[in-house]
Amino acid sequence: THREVVFSGIQPTGVPHLGNYLGALKQWVDIQNSAAEDTTLIYCVVDLHAITQPQDPDDLRSRRRNTMAMLLAVGLKPERCVIFEQSRVAAHSELMWVLSTLAPTNLLARQAQWKTKLAESEERSPLDPTGSGKLKLGLFSYPVLQAADILLYKTTLVPVGEDQVQHLELARDLAGKFNRKFGKVLVLPKVKLAPAKRVMSLNNPTSKMSKSGAINSQINLDHSEDEIRKRIRTALTDSTEGISYDPENRPGVSNLIEIMGHMTNMTDFQAIARDCEKLKMKEFKDRVADSVVEGLKGIADEYKRIKEDGDYLDKVSMEGAEKANRMANETLREVMKALGM
Ligand code: ADP
Ligand code: NA
Repeated sequence: THREVVFSGIQPTGVPHLGNYLGALKQWVDIQNSAAEDTTLIYCVVDLHAITQPQDPDDLRSRRRNTMAMLLAVGLKPERCVIFEQSRVAAHSELMWVLSTLAPTNLLARQAQWKTKLAESEERSPLDPTGSGKLKLGLFSYPVLQAADILLYKTTLVPVGEDQVQHLELARDLAGKFNRKFGKVLVLPKVKLAPAKRVMSLNNPTSKMSKSGAINSQINLDHSEDEIRKRIRTALTDSTEGISYDPENRPGVSNLIEIMGHMTNMTDFQAIARDCEKLKMKEFKDRVADSVVEGLKGIADEYKRIKEDGDYLDKVSMEGAEKANRMANETLREVMKALGM
């Protein structure tokens, strides 16, 4: 058996939502709690990615810190995991440059995520007076930075949601190209998809729940019980009688069934639907809300507490960055040497 290195990241672009939780954070914690002792766990607040979208510096400052607080609030232990902010480790940007010399632009042009993000920033153009709707090099090439994030730690396993699978392919591709040309320095990582591949927006259930989505479309991990119940009550469903699981024709109801399933670790959605078959929509939604409230119990309070403990957050952040720098600089040195520098 070989030693596993797990790496994943989250953008400090807002309070993490239920999609982030079920698609990423819950799995990070599950991995932490079941990993072999010699497995390295690295979880990163990817602030350099956050600036590829129109942003406000004061917001970024607080979101970065709050995202760290949320990683701790959901149960990640700084004694066990390397938890840090990406911009504190310069090697991420340096390896990105190296990889960008190997990244074909036509491959980057085929990535779906930057197109979605560009469309979002067009919709929100008042936030981007310096030229909304124009594709910036940073947004276009951010999958290369993501490849650097992962490859820097010789990561073997990357737990992410489905939206990131295409980027992982690119990371593997770039690692392969580097190794064939300059010698076997980098490790090709595997994807680990969460059971919840894609949690959908509450008021537009054909698009994914996202931090940049409309208000009311998400449940955030700092929401009160009342807020959670209210948002699920107003989630867009349909007027068909009874409850059934049919993602194609009943995306809203099916999304709620999936959410309830993932919150209770029951992934037989048809069975859940049969269980709820006779319920009125309101009763069904109350049951979904019960499962979310129960599943997220304690997180909002813990988040509030940690957020206010600035000294502790500083300490976690500094120690995490120190460990990350040590590992990252080692790989970077091997890479530069292989390149002839
Ligand atoms: P967002 O897309 O909300 O800005 P990030 O880009 O920071 O979130 O993604 C952090 C992690 O959360 C990634 O692993 C991503 O795959 C996962 N994720 C984001 N949105 C969802 C969703 N709606 N369903 C499942 N996983 C998601
Ligand atoms: Na994302």
